[in-house]
Amino acid sequence: MSAIVELRHVSKRYGRTTVLDDVSLSVEEGDIVAVIGPSGAGKSSLLRIVNQLERHDAGELLIDGVAVDPDERPARKAALRAGVGMVFQSFNLWPHRTAIENVMEGPRTVLRMPRAAAEERAVALLERVGLVDHRDKFPSQLSGGQQQRVAIARALAMQPRVMLFDEATSALDPALVRDVLDVMTALAVERMTMLVVTHEMRFARDVADRIVFMAAGQILEEAPPARFFDDPQHPLARGFVASTAQRA
Ligand SMILES: Nc1ncnc2c1ncn2[C@@H]1O[C@H](COP(=O)(O)OP(=O)(O)OP(=O)(O)O)[C@@H](O)[C@H]1O
Ligand SMILES: [Mg+2]
Repeated sequence: MSAIVELRHVSKRYGRTTVLDDVSLSVEEGDIVAVIGPSGAGKSSLLRIVNQLERHDAGELLIDGVAVDPDERPARKAALRAGVGMVFQSFNLWPHRTAIENVMEGPRTVLRMPRAAAEERAVALLERVGLVDHRDKFPSQLSGGQQQRVAIARALAMQPRVMLFDEATSALDPALVRDVLDVMTALAVERMTMLVVTHEMRFARDVADRIVFMAAGQILEEAPPARFFDDPQHPLARGFVASTAQRA
């Protein structure tokens, strides 16, 4: 079986700062991988490279078995990126479009889907994230948690091969976190392939198949959740688990 996302010895630097240092990672179809680690570890950089919002300097990135050249032509880059759904901490919805228009936009413009078909897909997805009754509201009329669920529906509308989440719940009021995590958990149960950067240790432990622990641009440990949280091996992983346990 080939991986949906594969990084082979990927490195990335900004000037003299190395943000990813020889990172290799393979995410198979149906894998739920949680990426955790301290601030500045390179977690967002990793996702941004997988989604080709940033280019890598060295190593190889393969999406669905196809090698991605960092110097890819923009049109081809867009086609490859369509297979990768991304959800950010900051929702990033189009403010002047309603919920359903936000979800329909990608299928309409990128996939050239007819309006009726795009609308049908969007309604089904808004139903799935529990927001079909809010379909005609603008982002400013929705709570943060609702906006984030629209953002998830919008990413799913492209029928991606993998979903990337970058601290999707970090900007939310605690009371709104649960609804978003529930949607993510439902996707995991359906075996959507997912690469999830999160500070929600409970979610990582309960939902992920694998924990990837990063610090200083490197993957220092990779293990099933129970093994990782009960018996972290790397000293930095041990410190990290101890500090998050204290906060929980
Ligand atoms: N555009 C940029 N220019 C220069 N340095 C950058 C840029 N983006 C990120 N960095 C640096 O790269 C390193 C990794 O950043 P990254 O955002 O990937 O970390 P992170 O693990 O996502 O952290 P956090 O948990 O705070 O979100 C940091 O030292 C950061 O300052
Ligand atoms: Mg980050």
